[in-house]
Amino acid sequence: MRARLERDFDRFKRGLPRDFPAHVRETYGIDLTARYLGELVPHPIGKGSGQLSLNLGQLDDDAAAGLAFAVLKTVIAEDATGAQAMAAWAIHETKMKVERRRAGADREGWTVTWKGRGWDRPFGEYLALLRAGRDLTRAGRLLVVPSVKYHLPRLAEPFREDEYRHTTGLLADAWGDPPLLLEKDFSPTLAGDALADDRAQILRWLREVPGRIRAASPIPVRVAMKLMNARFDDRFQVEMMDTCTGADTLVVFNRLFDAELGVAFGGWDLSDRNLRVLETVQESPGLRPGSVVRLTPHASAGIPALTGTGNIGSGRMILEYARRGCESVQLHTFFQLPLSEYAATHGTRPERALHALVFHPQEGLIAGMLELEARRELERHDGELRFLDLPAHAHRAG
Ligand SMILES: Cc1cc2nc3c(=O)[nH]c(=O)nc-3n(C[C@H](O)[C@H](O)[C@H](O)COP(=O)(O)O)c2cc1C
Repeated sequence: MRARLERDFDRFKRGLPRDFPAHVRETYGIDLTARYLGELVPHPIGKGSGQLSLNLGQLDDDAAAGLAFAVLKTVIAEDATGAQAMAAWAIHETKMKVERRRAGADREGWTVTWKGRGWDRPFGEYLALLRAGRDLTRAGRLLVVPSVKYHLPRLAEPFREDEYRHTTGLLADAWGDPPLLLEKDFSPTLAGDALADDRAQILRWLREVPGRIRAASPIPVRVAMKLMNARFDDRFQVEMMDTCTGADTLVVFNRLFDAELGVAFGGWDLSDRNLRVLETVQESPGLRPGSVVRLTPHASAGIPALTGTGNIGSGRMILEYARRGCESVQLHTFFQLPLSEYAATHGTRPERALHALVFHPQEGLIAGMLELEARRELERHDGELRFLDLPAHAHRAG
């Protein structure tokens, strides 16, 4: 197997096989099937919302590379008059800087420094992109999901329901057949904003927003809440997860906020924090991801299914998230590195990234799963190692 993996890594530098998950299954007996927002996907690697999912060209490249899913850039909700309560997030900024970021004395990671926020073009253009994404999804080429920043009120204020209704209605119309899948973003700049100074206020958003979106949608909807890294301790981070029972999935967790520089950042500090919080959840009896029980249309208990994000640049890091309960992962920074950072010599960045994430003979997903098997931490069923066994057993293992 090792020798075969070395050979595959080498020959796929020029391009991945058209259906690489099928190749992995036949060659290594590894089933990479994963899950995102309740949908089975052929492997766990998707693209997170951001500057890399702004246009159809990017989505086409993602489909051709074989990404499992892509989340569109976050659009700012608006009402029928075009008013946006979160207009401060719809600012225009193009310049991004991919730079090294050090964590502690010895770990160099990558971060993207950028001062922009949400979608800054007309809402109609977002709907056109969503319709193109819907066509890719229907064709079985790439699961595409929109992302929205809806109004978040202060504690004493009501939610602006007209914004929820108008925006969700337009997205549902553009999508067509139910269910509508969508992410609600709680961004690092929100975490750094005065709006997020108050814990009770944040917890109210998490308790109420999924229900508001469901109530606003003319068709059945599955909601992923992309939680921010709040400026409070790890325990509050767990409390946020435990409060957000109305969601179908939690994306854990968006980037950190550097208050001094006024920018979001990633790198090792981000994955350290995310993995540490997920471990706390793992060790807490009664907090099992994917255990949500819907008691009534508006009340549920348990923790929703998890999707990981943050400093994922190797198959091994995907496994760290999976072993703490994540059924899939979404990346941004690793799709943006200088070409010299990828071992592959041909292909788009998503293709080169997949090559490293899956086939790297030491750091890749296949190598990592074979190693877990050798350590008897993952067993074959009907001759196959299954990626989804990792999140399913996260609690027993923990
Ligand atoms: C330049 C940039 C823009 C982003 N914009 C959004 C966004 O609009 N909505 C969102 O939910 N996440 C956004 N993200 C967060 C990413 O989707 C991802 O969750 C985060 O960067 C952590 O993953 P990474 O370490 O692989 O970059 C953005 C990230 C970057 C670097």
